[in-house]
Amino acid sequence: MTAAVLDEQRALRLDDDDPLPSLRSRFLVPRHEDGREIAYFAGNSLGLQPAATRKILEEELEDWASRAVEGHVEARRPWVSYHELLREPSARLVGALPAEVVVMNSLTVNLHLLMASFYRPTPERYRIVIEDSAFPSDSYAVRSQAAWHGFDPDRAVVRLRARDGTSVLETADVVDWLSANGADVALVLFGAVNYYSGQYLDIPAITAAAQQAGAVVGWDLAHATGNVVARLHDWNVDWAAWCSYKYLNAGPGSLAGAFVHERHLADRTLPKLAGWWSTDPRTRFDMGPTVAPMDTADGWAVSNPPIFAMAPVLASLRIFDEVGLPPLRERSVRLTGYLEALLDEVGAQFITPRDPDRRGAQLSVRVPADAAKVSATLRREHAVIADSRKPDVLRLAPAPLYNTFHDCWRGATALAAVLGG
Ligand SMILES: Cc1ncc(COP(=O)(O)O)c(C=O)c1O
Repeated sequence: MTAAVLDEQRALRLDDDDPLPSLRSRFLVPRHEDGREIAYFAGNSLGLQPAATRKILEEELEDWASRAVEGHVEARRPWVSYHELLREPSARLVGALPAEVVVMNSLTVNLHLLMASFYRPTPERYRIVIEDSAFPSDSYAVRSQAAWHGFDPDRAVVRLRARDGTSVLETADVVDWLSANGADVALVLFGAVNYYSGQYLDIPAITAAAQQAGAVVGWDLAHATGNVVARLHDWNVDWAAWCSYKYLNAGPGSLAGAFVHERHLADRTLPKLAGWWSTDPRTRFDMGPTVAPMDTADGWAVSNPPIFAMAPVLASLRIFDEVGLPPLRERSVRLTGYLEALLDEVGAQFITPRDPDRRGAQLSVRVPADAAKVSATLRREHAVIADSRKPDVLRLAPAPLYNTFHDCWRGATALAAVLGG
């Protein structure tokens, strides 16, 4: 990688002229010890805190203090139905009908709850297909599901690899594999935007191919929600789950979403793991011994809503509703394209697909050095946060809500300096 004279004035002009200016002032941007604002590229890992989050949390604390148990129905946002506030904005983000979405638990828990319904293996059809580069939690989850049902995970879980010498899966290869080998596949579970490469897989094509082969299809949207535009309902996805601490900026370990396609909602043959929030709210407090089923994704909820985890999700979703995902995605394409051009100028080697339709905000690049050391130097000497993956990959994700073109300029300039060109 060689140093290049990157044009700072152009970055500043791009910020001034952008049709959707950054909402950076609505977020709390960390500072370097020397006082500089951090150029933050880790929104794919943990998004920044919206300034509005503190107020909404304080309001919930006030309601708890002043109303105690009566807050369940009398709080300014009654706790008993708090999750309802998150349903429609979440549905808009993933292209779902409101009835298809529920916010609850954390991501891997939701994967398990949904697999309890949608992974129903038989001796003839029991395999689960994931990407070889799946996030480890998904890999552990599907292996444990196979074992839970009495199958050997090494036989039951198939990991699809990118072709030798390439770093991302080709849609055509996945589709061909499924049509040739899908007869004993019960479930396909892929990360929609791959955490490592940043690749945005072709959800409709892979979903259709897997269903054609007779499998059920789930998508992990951890790196996709709030990042790319998805249309889960129209694409006929069976189920999906996502977290809200990355592009959704709802805070560390915050709640997850779950999607179940409309056509499954009233299916009484699907087994579900239940609790008192799985039952119809109209009769919940009759305290009967059996679940009164609901024809919405709420049927997959188990416990009462955790208000202090939900409040930051509400603060975050309000921002998305205010801006709208499609214009935000357009800004994201501009920002990431600009960062890509700068990284090209400094000679970066990309893992992420070059086609903006096949990626989200994140760019993953190989560096000719220990990536963890590069990342530490970027942080210490240049006030740039970009995360590393062993041994030589850096991930930089300009988040369209708060990153600027100038951040991209800072990131690329710093990388060139660290790599000593
Ligand atoms: C793609 C993906 N799946 C699953 C997880 C695990 O999420 P959680 O710890 O919230 O269950 C993550 C976490 O970053 C992830 O990126």
